[in-house]
Amino acid sequence: MAEYLFVTCQAGMESLVKAEYMAQVPAARLAFSRRGLVTFKLPDGTTATADLAPRGILPRTFGTSLVTVQTPLPPTSSPASEKAPNRLGAREFMSLLQDVTRFGDATSTSHLIEQTVAAAEQTQMGPWNGVHVWVRDGLMPATNWSRIPNVELPLGWQRFCLHLTEALRAKNLVPANVRANENAEMGQRILDLCLVEPTQIIVGQHQVQHRFQRWSGGVIPPVPAAVPPISRAYFKIREAVSWSGLDLRPGQTCVEIGSAPGGSCQWLLEQDLKVIGIDPAEIDPVIANHPNFTHIRRRGREVKRHDIKQCDWLLSDANLPPNYVLDTIEDLVRHPLIRPKGLVLTLKLPDTKLLEHWHDWTQRVASWGFTQTVGRQLVFNRQEVCLVATKPRRS
Ligand SMILES: C[S@@+](CC[C@H](N)C(=O)[O-])C[C@H]1O[C@@H](n2cnc3c(N)ncnc32)[C@H](O)[C@@H]1O
Repeated sequence: MAEYLFVTCQAGMESLVKAEYMAQVPAARLAFSRRGLVTFKLPDGTTATADLAPRGILPRTFGTSLVTVQTPLPPTSSPASEKAPNRLGAREFMSLLQDVTRFGDATSTSHLIEQTVAAAEQTQMGPWNGVHVWVRDGLMPATNWSRIPNVELPLGWQRFCLHLTEALRAKNLVPANVRANENAEMGQRILDLCLVEPTQIIVGQHQVQHRFQRWSGGVIPPVPAAVPPISRAYFKIREAVSWSGLDLRPGQTCVEIGSAPGGSCQWLLEQDLKVIGIDPAEIDPVIANHPNFTHIRRRGREVKRHDIKQCDWLLSDANLPPNYVLDTIEDLVRHPLIRPKGLVLTLKLPDTKLLEHWHDWTQRVASWGFTQTVGRQLVFNRQEVCLVATKPRRS
């Protein structure tokens, strides 16, 4: 039987993901797709194992697509429900999820839950170590964060995940103590339930081989910050470090070019790092007054090398073209006083065509000695991607 691969991405990136994967596995065939979700029919006789894993930087997560479940929503008197459920836009979908009586109460989604559990059982692939229930990007705006995310998921959605997991536990498809959307461990086999439309679920699975596959839908769970996050960059740097596994240690120094208003500095300071922010713009007073923070109010190219000679990790989040960012970083890291262990670079993509240069960018970074490079369009990235590069450790 043919196998299907699902790949998720930022809404709007589907055609690039399709093109990249078709170039990687020419014998694959395009199958069902929606905003934020693409599926492929794999060549006969192959399975979605390591060599068929999508290699690009755009996939958010991937796994095997097993079966699709489709049910009607129960009718309600609410005006929004006059639209067919599969035609709901992101806003209407969110309002549906906020309304527990329409989505979340055991009765409102019982049909969808019953059918999903029955379909999972019929695959005979269970039991699984855990279950990830997630919404494709482009349907729930909370997974396509353009602003600071709301860390509280809609109540209806929370209830739905709860009831669904209870039903899976009752059939012994997941262990008795499992809750929905717990971070998985490496090697575990996870049941994926992707809500494609309010009435449609793809039942899939994946074995965790990458850090991002530990997170439900490849989305790092947002956590409430000690102090409200100053900017989206708070979540961006947290995701970049968690995904890449960068070994930032308390007491080390991070230098960030493009640090205002200070979201990423805020997260780094919470990790007990020292932070030097380089930016001509003003830094939020909460950060500016922090004892472990120093503001250099200049452009990246104007900074005195001596002022950042303690740099352990060099970051850039400046809103500048990628080549300009790389020129600035090169000027710094080629200087004998500045010897960072690694780089975390946000590369802005006003036009996705710029991604054609990705290979050149990583080669350029490698030529400075940062030969271990990884890239990802973070969930918290907008029109940008993240490049993390480290030097090989000396033995
Ligand atoms: C996306 S914001 C950075 C957000 C920031 N990382 C945070 O955590 O809140 C981009 C910043 O880049 C700064 N910037 C633009 N050109 C720069 C340059 N040549 N050197 C340093 N900063 C620059 C801007 O002033 C702006 O504050």
